[in-house]
Amino acid sequence: MLFPDYRPRRLRQNENFRRMIRETRLSVDDLILPLFAVEGKGVKDAIPSMPGHYQLSADHIVKEVKVARDLGIPAVMLFGIPDKKDALATSAYAEDGIVQKTVKTVKDKVADVVVITDVCLCEYTDHGHCGMVEDGTIVNDETLELLARTALSHARAGADMVAPSDMMDGRVSEIREALDDNGFEMTPIMSYAAKYCSAFYYPFRQAAESAPKFGDRRTYQMDPANSLEAIREVSMDVEEAADIIMVKPAMAYLDIIFRVREEIDLPVAAYNVSGEFAMIKAADKLGWLDGNKVMMESLMAIKRAGADMILTYFAKEAAKELGGS
Ligand code: PBG
Repeated sequence: MLFPDYRPRRLRQNENFRRMIRETRLSVDDLILPLFAVEGKGVKDAIPSMPGHYQLSADHIVKEVKVARDLGIPAVMLFGIPDKKDALATSAYAEDGIVQKTVKTVKDKVADVVVITDVCLCEYTDHGHCGMVEDGTIVNDETLELLARTALSHARAGADMVAPSDMMDGRVSEIREALDDNGFEMTPIMSYAAKYCSAFYYPFRQAAESAPKFGDRRTYQMDPANSLEAIREVSMDVEEAADIIMVKPAMAYLDIIFRVREEIDLPVAAYNVSGEFAMIKAADKLGWLDGNKVMMESLMAIKRAGADMILTYFAKEAAKELGGS
């Protein structure tokens, strides 16, 4: 296929030709909207580095979930910001914890939306780490039981799917067992399987008030330099019976999404994280780029790399662009 016999521009000359040969399609079905739940009523506190996103009390969460559903978005992901934090992350697995109460309210009031809950301890520990701390070390095995208890309490409250984001070893099987032993064998697990220790989480940690008080997350989250290790991490979660595996972040990790998609036959989710959202919003605000166009191109790129679904703070805006009613 050599020029001038072959001319790639032939099939680019009008929009109908372009539509006919388009390889990747972004759909509202691909989108998952993350939401931040706080205690109280009528609370809607803006998150400065994430324009359009708020810390919301349950009444506002219900409204947001309805908006998302009416736009055709199939699922939301709930993060909880509790009033009380302690060394044992007690409010992560309390029956009346923030996520548990919010899930209950949402499932009561809104039909037809999948409610996924983020399972982690960092928003609930006073030190801000995702696991238990002993002598300054984030301990693995002692944390597993608390994660399983948290996931189970979410399922009991009505969560449709649980999503562990802590990066402790072995947590998927521990959670699977706890769910199965208690009659929740039909509750799927979306595992944050290849989650990197990324500076792109910065706005989220302001939003969720979950920054570690000492040190960093490098002993449990993955080194951004590694990709073979991502395959090992993901394979372990597959063995432990995860139902959906996630790569996080997305934009700077498209190669990881691609590789995981090639090697694994489970659905792959990608998390287009807070820092990726904030950068585009900031540049748009400065007039340095067209935020809407960059949003759609970015989401398309994540899909093209191999993601079956995308957790993104752009979910509502993207759904509107895609013509959701
Ligand atoms: C909790 C968690 C984090 C994110 C999702 N779940 C933060 C972290 O690991 O510090 C980040 C999401 C984002 O940046 O949008 N462990």
